[in-house]
Amino acid sequence: MANAEKQNAELIWPPPDEREFENPSLIVEYAEKNAKKGDPNDVLKAADYYGWNLGKLRSIAIGDVKGKFVDEVVQDVNPTVALECGAWFGYSAVRIARLMKPGSCFYSLEIDPICAKLTERLVKHAGLSDKVKVVLSDAHEVIPQLRDKYKIEKIDLALLDNGCKHYKGNLIEMLDAGLLQKGSVVLSDNVLYPAANDYREFVQSHKRFESTLFDTHLQYTPNVRDGMEKSTYLG
Ligand SMILES: C[S@@+](CC[C@H](N)C(=O)[O-])C[C@H]1O[C@@H](n2cnc3c(N)ncnc32)[C@H](O)[C@@H]1O
Repeated sequence: MANAEKQNAELIWPPPDEREFENPSLIVEYAEKNAKKGDPNDVLKAADYYGWNLGKLRSIAIGDVKGKFVDEVVQDVNPTVALECGAWFGYSAVRIARLMKPGSCFYSLEIDPICAKLTERLVKHAGLSDKVKVVLSDAHEVIPQLRDKYKIEKIDLALLDNGCKHYKGNLIEMLDAGLLQKGSVVLSDNVLYPAANDYREFVQSHKRFESTLFDTHLQYTPNVRDGMEKSTYLG
């Protein structure tokens, strides 16, 4: 980590001790009630409004600020196959899938059955059910099966957002399965807060990855620094 990064990171120390997050079903209910059916942008607007203004506890969706960075990456990569580890209630699934071309597929891997159902509901409300496949599973279990079970040969874009401790393992599982190929891009959220130091060290020192930090703040929380790592596989 560069010195400037370290110094800034220390500004937020000690980080807020958060063990609880907003109930995601409240956000989905709000979006269903307030966003126009079949309009993904309106669904995101409602979820962001909830995240900024209405939640008693923090929403852990990527949110609008990191979301704009993710939008640029999706537009740049133009993926045929994209995947996320960790859906929560489907914010990032809607955000990414709405920009994907016809015939493409977004796989949303989620371990919690309640979150998987919420994601299906939000995706349906956004009118994106034909593009998004929610897979109820531990990402560690399903990644090695993606080739045989889901006929995936290459992941063009992956979002790691299922808890920092899983990122390095999930990335290695994708590499071992041969799913990352020249030009594949992996985004990982919350790399500064709560922090994914082992993951960042791995991608930054790996000769086949080109990796940069999108330096920003925690979703819906401008006073806490956070970042997203963008890592491009060179093949
Ligand atoms: C930060 S939230 C995801 C937020 C979502 N990507 C968004 O921006 O809208 C983390 C999610 O990861 C899920 N999760 C945790 N461990 C997992 C695992 N091993 N495999 C798949 N999902 C997991 C949790 O249940 C939770 O829903």
